[in-house]
Amino acid sequence: MPTIVAIDGPGAAGKSTTAREVARRLGFRHLDTGAMYRAATLACLEQGLPEQESPQLAEFLKSLRLEFQPLSSGEQKLLLDGRDVTAAIRAPLVSQRVSAYSALPMVRERLLAIQRRIGEQYDVVCEGRDIGTRVFPEARFKFFLIADLEVRAQRRYEELRSQGFDQPLDKVREEIRIRDHEDSTRKHSPLRKAKDAVPVDTSHMTIPAQVEFVINHINTSL
Ligand code: DC
Repeated sequence: MPTIVAIDGPGAAGKSTTAREVARRLGFRHLDTGAMYRAATLACLEQGLPEQESPQLAEFLKSLRLEFQPLSSGEQKLLLDGRDVTAAIRAPLVSQRVSAYSALPMVRERLLAIQRRIGEQYDVVCEGRDIGTRVFPEARFKFFLIADLEVRAQRRYEELRSQGFDQPLDKVREEIRIRDHEDSTRKHSPLRKAKDAVPVDTSHMTIPAQVEFVINHINTSL
């Protein structure tokens, strides 16, 4: 049975950076489920499919192919039907619409199936919103990362700038706040800390400290 490390939490709490490095250190795959919801959103926007359940959406999801391709640099690409969408899924329009698409049970069921299949094949560090509660409730290790809204807004603002998306800080903060609210209050698999997840407040932690915390916790529990 592969080993699963689940990392959940709200947006910009440090999940991706921590998960990527923890995966590298453990020699596990990094399963970024937020990137998968973003790619599904991008695909639906491109197809002109609105954020509501429909036979067209069901049909479209059936044929949707999402694949992570590890690179020798340690990074990975996300392929949507074979096309590299790693950069495109970070566009502000995708960020604004992803909560609405990811609230649809049809979308969640399709991605859940893909995520579980990957988790059956590989040791993974899996990050998202519902990993410890729904995708892998039996995960061997579970963490729940949080950080103050102001800290998260600043991090996301800098991350977006480095990717060439110039957005005012106020706008970035407001979007994170709205997305947190939508992700935590939706009916299906809302963002929630699993009872057995270890809480980690990263507001005043550096990235190496976050990684060290997770690795130490895993090593002491082995
Ligand atoms: O981690 P992120 O910001 O890239 O995630 C984008 C969105 O995807 C997030 O606002 C909610 C959704 N998501 C989800 O519903 N379930 C997950 N397991 C991961 C992400």
